[in-house]
Amino acid sequence: MDENKAFEKLKESIYNKFGLDLNQYKENYLKRRLAARMRSLQMISYEEYLKYLLTREDEYNILLDKLTINVTQFFRDPETFEEVEKNILPNIMRNNNTIKVWSAGCSTGEEAYSIAIMMEEIAENLGILNYKYNIIGTDIDEKVLYKARLGYYEGRTLDNLSDIRKKKYFDFDGKNYIIKENIKKKVEFLKYNIMEPFKKDYFNIIFCRNVIIYFTRELQNKVIGYFYDSLKENGIFIMGKTETMLLSFRNKFECLNIRERIFIKRA
Ligand SMILES: C[S@@+](CC[C@H](N)C(=O)[O-])C[C@H]1O[C@@H](n2cnc3c(N)ncnc32)[C@H](O)[C@@H]1O
Repeated sequence: MDENKAFEKLKESIYNKFGLDLNQYKENYLKRRLAARMRSLQMISYEEYLKYLLTREDEYNILLDKLTINVTQFFRDPETFEEVEKNILPNIMRNNNTIKVWSAGCSTGEEAYSIAIMMEEIAENLGILNYKYNIIGTDIDEKVLYKARLGYYEGRTLDNLSDIRKKKYFDFDGKNYIIKENIKKKVEFLKYNIMEPFKKDYFNIIFCRNVIIYFTRELQNKVIGYFYDSLKENGIFIMGKTETMLLSFRNKFECLNIRERIFIKRA
């Protein structure tokens, strides 16, 4: 089989298995990730790898894992969290009895739990008892969601957590830091592909960081449009620090902080 055809077939089988349209990922990125997986299997042609994939059920999950980079951390890009904590969330919390936050592309849950920790602390500082909020963490990859729901963490992912926060929000079993129940119950993890529209006019804040960077401009346009629709009026959208807002949204989102990629939805 011709290599182009085998490459197309590979994309098709991933689409049939997970509903993930790889045509919407940047081609260079896709080819680099595939090459890395093929190298570790000592394969040099897409055709050879396609044959392998089609005969091994477990390879689909391994490949998805390689394609969707899951790297994350608690309080990743701490300056972004500081900005949200100081200048964004307190106002929203003062003006709303209950708020809904979405961590889209949440990986193993660190971002969603960091948001919960931050909100607990803001509520405490504002003197609000039992503030009602809920956080939805979504990802396309079932394996990371399983870890997120479990809430066991070790290693570098904890680097940005102060000792005070570790003590207050985690139990330690000698190896893992285990997220405490009061934080855990604030976050619900769901499988969801952000290439599809989600709930309309629902969220006060959406974090989608370090996910759409791998998408083509066309798909970014579609996905940011879905986020726009999912936000309430004056809702906040936060992108990754290396991601850029498309010009086509300049009348829809006003930039509040360009460095931290924080935007507000305008009607
Ligand atoms: C690099 S992690 C980012 C985690 C976190 N947002 C952060 O900034 O630390 C990217 C995550 O996006 C997820 N992802 C990639 N494509 C997706 C899609 N189409 N729908 C939902 N999640 C997706 C991956 O599975 C991965 O867990």
